[in-house]
Amino acid sequence: MEKTITVLPGDGIGPEVTEAAVKVLQTIAKRFNHTFNLHYELIGGAAIDDCENPLPEETIKQCSQSDAILLGAVGGPKWDQNPSHLRPEKGLLAIRKHFGLYANIRPVKAIPALLDSSPLKKEVAENVDLVIVRELTGGLYFSEPREKSHDHALDTLAYSRTEIERIVDTAFQIARSRRGKLASVDKANVLDTSKLWREIVEEKRQNYPDVELEHMLVDSTAMKMITQPSAFDVIVTENMFGDILSDEASVITGSLGMLPSASTREDGFGLYEPVHGSAPDIAGQNKANPAATILSAAMMLREAFQMETEAAAVEEAVFNVLNDGNFTGDLQVEGKRVLSTTEWTAKVLEELDSEFVSDSIMFSYV
Ligand code: IPM
Ligand code: MN
Repeated sequence: MEKTITVLPGDGIGPEVTEAAVKVLQTIAKRFNHTFNLHYELIGGAAIDDCENPLPEETIKQCSQSDAILLGAVGGPKWDQNPSHLRPEKGLLAIRKHFGLYANIRPVKAIPALLDSSPLKKEVAENVDLVIVRELTGGLYFSEPREKSHDHALDTLAYSRTEIERIVDTAFQIARSRRGKLASVDKANVLDTSKLWREIVEEKRQNYPDVELEHMLVDSTAMKMITQPSAFDVIVTENMFGDILSDEASVITGSLGMLPSASTREDGFGLYEPVHGSAPDIAGQNKANPAATILSAAMMLREAFQMETEAAAVEEAVFNVLNDGNFTGDLQVEGKRVLSTTEWTAKVLEELDSEFVSDSIMFSYV
């Protein structure tokens, strides 16, 4: 198969982790006889530095001509004092909105080899296998009006029926394909948007009688995520709650450096990115854990290209490398040698059992 991928390395550790994932994609292309045309574009702080725009037109154009987008991370202290339209995060929010990527899928799965890195007791963290389905293009992040002056600020939390219906359908469908359990998370004891959310979930449940549904408040969900995370299967929630709960869930598995994500829409087009940020403190030091980005590339193979075997090969390679006791610094386990980003990636490539030859790949740096 031939596919075109736009790679947006972004800021901080973004370039290092996307490079690792690109090597994995190249190895997969060779082993399974595919052609991946890679185009590199700017986003976030790197784009601000280049053209004072966190999401340049050129980037949008290239992405719209692609089959999928692979993103590293955006942000860093260098741009912290910038006005809001020149913040790196604006580029990420704008690309999600521009392409209508309303469904953010964040799987969290305990990996036996990493249980010692989890801050939770082994018996609490083991067997965790959940998916957070986060609404990504509405709510507090995007609703108008917004304003800020010296002594007053306003954000708006609004949701339309359509916005809620489509994400709830996505979540029911994912639940149906897994263990058939869905927790819909809201704050319906306080917020009107949550009351509408709950009404719509109740309507939708009629179409999914095979799914066991539970409504939960976000505060008690945050608690249960730590006390009994293995009780969850699929969680669906609005944008801000999903942002917070997914960072919380990420540490269960040992490190935020492990979590991949997909941001998609009805037709399957999507952006694949690690859940972690740009980690400016370790940027450029060859220390970052590339697993989350490599696993995001695996999600891309599966979700965007229907390459199930290829996706499974990548995931298996990552798990085998970890099971063999190879860790990056974030997962530091006593007595183990810490591998650099490139050393760890080389182990994954070795595991994928293929000499690295890039002749089936066409590069185009625009
Ligand atoms: C995430 C990030 C982003 C978000 C930031 C960088 C804008 O935290 O993808 O979870 O809040 O959505
Ligand atoms: Mn976040």
